[in-house]
Amino acid sequence: MTETSLVRQRLFDAAIGILVIVGGVAGLLGFSSTVFAQHRMHGQQEKVDRNHPWMNASLSPDQRAEMVLKEMTLDEKIGLVHGMGMPGWPRDVQEPEPELGNGGAGFVLGVPRLGIPIIQISDAAYGVRSSGENGRYSTALPAAIGAAASWDTQAACAYGTLIGKELRAQGYSMTLGGGVNITREPRNGRTFEYLGEDPILAGTLVGNLMKCEQAQNVIGDIKHYAVNDQESGRNEVDSIIGKRALRESDLLAFEIGVGIAQPGAVMCSYNAVNGVFACENKYLLTDILKKEWGFPGFVVSDWGGTHSTVKASAAGLDNEQPLDEFFGAKLKAAVEGGKVSTAELDAHVRRVLRSEFACGIIDHPTQKSVVDVLGGFETARKIEEQSAVLLKNAGGVLPLNGAALKSIAIIGPHADAEMISGGGSAQVDAPGRPNAGWQAHVWFPTSPMKAVKAHAPGADVQFDSGADLASAAALAKKSDVAIVFVYQWMSEGMDLASLSLPEKQDELIAAVAAANPKTIVVLETGTAATMPWVDKVSGVLEAWYAGSDGANAVANILFGDVNPSAKLPMTFPKSDADLPHPKLIQPGPGQTGEAAVMKTGEAKATFSVTYDEGLKVGYKWFDAEKKAVLFPFGFGLSYTTFAYSGLQVTSGKGTAVSFSVKNTGSRDGAEIAQVYVALPASAGEPPKRLVGWSKVWLKAGENKDVSVSVDPKYLSIYDEGSGWKLLPGGYVIMVGGSSAELPLTQRIELR
Ligand code: BGC
Repeated sequence: MTETSLVRQRLFDAAIGILVIVGGVAGLLGFSSTVFAQHRMHGQQEKVDRNHPWMNASLSPDQRAEMVLKEMTLDEKIGLVHGMGMPGWPRDVQEPEPELGNGGAGFVLGVPRLGIPIIQISDAAYGVRSSGENGRYSTALPAAIGAAASWDTQAACAYGTLIGKELRAQGYSMTLGGGVNITREPRNGRTFEYLGEDPILAGTLVGNLMKCEQAQNVIGDIKHYAVNDQESGRNEVDSIIGKRALRESDLLAFEIGVGIAQPGAVMCSYNAVNGVFACENKYLLTDILKKEWGFPGFVVSDWGGTHSTVKASAAGLDNEQPLDEFFGAKLKAAVEGGKVSTAELDAHVRRVLRSEFACGIIDHPTQKSVVDVLGGFETARKIEEQSAVLLKNAGGVLPLNGAALKSIAIIGPHADAEMISGGGSAQVDAPGRPNAGWQAHVWFPTSPMKAVKAHAPGADVQFDSGADLASAAALAKKSDVAIVFVYQWMSEGMDLASLSLPEKQDELIAAVAAANPKTIVVLETGTAATMPWVDKVSGVLEAWYAGSDGANAVANILFGDVNPSAKLPMTFPKSDADLPHPKLIQPGPGQTGEAAVMKTGEAKATFSVTYDEGLKVGYKWFDAEKKAVLFPFGFGLSYTTFAYSGLQVTSGKGTAVSFSVKNTGSRDGAEIAQVYVALPASAGEPPKRLVGWSKVWLKAGENKDVSVSVDPKYLSIYDEGSGWKLLPGGYVIMVGGSSAELPLTQRIELR
């Protein structure tokens, strides 16, 4: 646990303790304070007056926001630009009205006399957070990195829709999901919350996810803007990056996501970018996000990521969270003293109001209800079935034939009963278990053993935890097949020291594979894993963090009820040594980030990470450096095979790429057909970039014509002097089933 999270956890424990003591004393004395009376109404929608001209839904969100703004007092305006505390955050017990919160990450006071409701905010990366401690239930979807492996905008939409519905059912009107920091550093502890290493893939998917989530009438959010690419020292790190690399990689993911989703909010990140904290970085917040991209929503700070009043306000921060250290009394004084103009304050307030109208939280107040548990299981399972990537299938060991197998060994810690999930503020609570606290390993009760048994009712299915290598090997030896479930737990607030599996699981796999070559490894990881044993095993399935019904999804793939179709959204390197930064850069001794996140006034970045690989992120790095990888970006096997033919590229106003894909095997399946482009040499780009894809569902033997239109921006470079530029010259278009297998190529000239 980092210092920051320790402090957070201790404060949380202390706050709960104080509440319990105060509550107990109040009860003994026979009076109930208002606070406790109101606590029973936790998060209940306050009565809002709907009898106002701006309640006319046929007016635009801008018009409606403007009308409300005109009526507001200075105090009411200030109330809209900061949070009111989060359980566990410093000072929360002294906050004016903590009882109005809904148990989530925070809330923004409304203006009941004007019909403006409280914004109830929850984390919701792969499901709604904190449901356990609030006595509620949430579905855990597969981790976002898994959803990215589906490359499927409809799956992303289903993902967002489910979270939006469950947020509302639990009384929330704003999500803090939508993480889209690209994977520059695969050991980043939050890699599982993000959507991989390619900005176009990640941006497109987060955009579709958040668009659909927001369609449920919650305020959407995309985060952490920007270059919050590692957790080590996240509150005090200065991410140093060239402008061109910033625009073409990290920011492009946000640009695409914001463009598609039009989210109500964008969260600025903890770190500094090129010397200026992201939440007071005018270049990021105003020049690019608001002016260049035309983002009409509000910028919300990451929790404790605000560091100033006048500077942050001028830079374009609209809402401080989770409290009012800088955007409460200090901002009011700055407005009264003329240091911040009323027009500037109004601009912040207008954006908050506009998002409330645009996202429908005023016209459609939340109404608590019971979450659709069964529906959630089905959605989670279907998404996982499209997210698990089949990486190896030697000799067609998969799919398994449940009727023919006499004995199956299920090996690995917890494989008899449960599967791991990702931690931190993304954590979804497991049903039937108490909230495990910050950064605990949370296992979901979805049993690989049970799911396998259901597919092979006649087989003798036995379990070994793998704690004793000899015993695991002995079980594998006497079984027809051994399935080893291994995991790598990750969380916000920490990074992995290495991509290798912890707890001697590499040794376990090697021992099992030596005993029985018919060994299949199922990985439960939130990022890439290294695999020193890969040549010894027959099958490898990357299941990621598989969600509420993960075991059934995995078994459906292993036994062939589902034909796998997912492809890697990130490169799996052979070793950490091959990464742009073989060793993760850590803050210096004694630098813990506390000053930056808690006090913040004089906060300064204390160390920096220079992203000198620049444009060469993920596969672009390995391509450019000519380093062999374990499994390339875009790779994934199916139980059928596909053939590509007939590439035709037309370029005029835009570029259209058409080709045919044929299912040449004997099973129905889906192929994610990918289009890459090599830019002219004069562009100085890495060898190729993904510019589009199409997921094609094909019956056995079926052939389909596919057309992918390529946005001109995706062929462009960012020129630091003049902005986005499509260079004249020869472009090579490449099409195929992974970044490393592109059978179709055509050169075109662009003028
Ligand atoms: C995380 C955010 C999260 C917030 C509220 C921060 O520590 O970085 O992603 O939304 O806490 O829980």
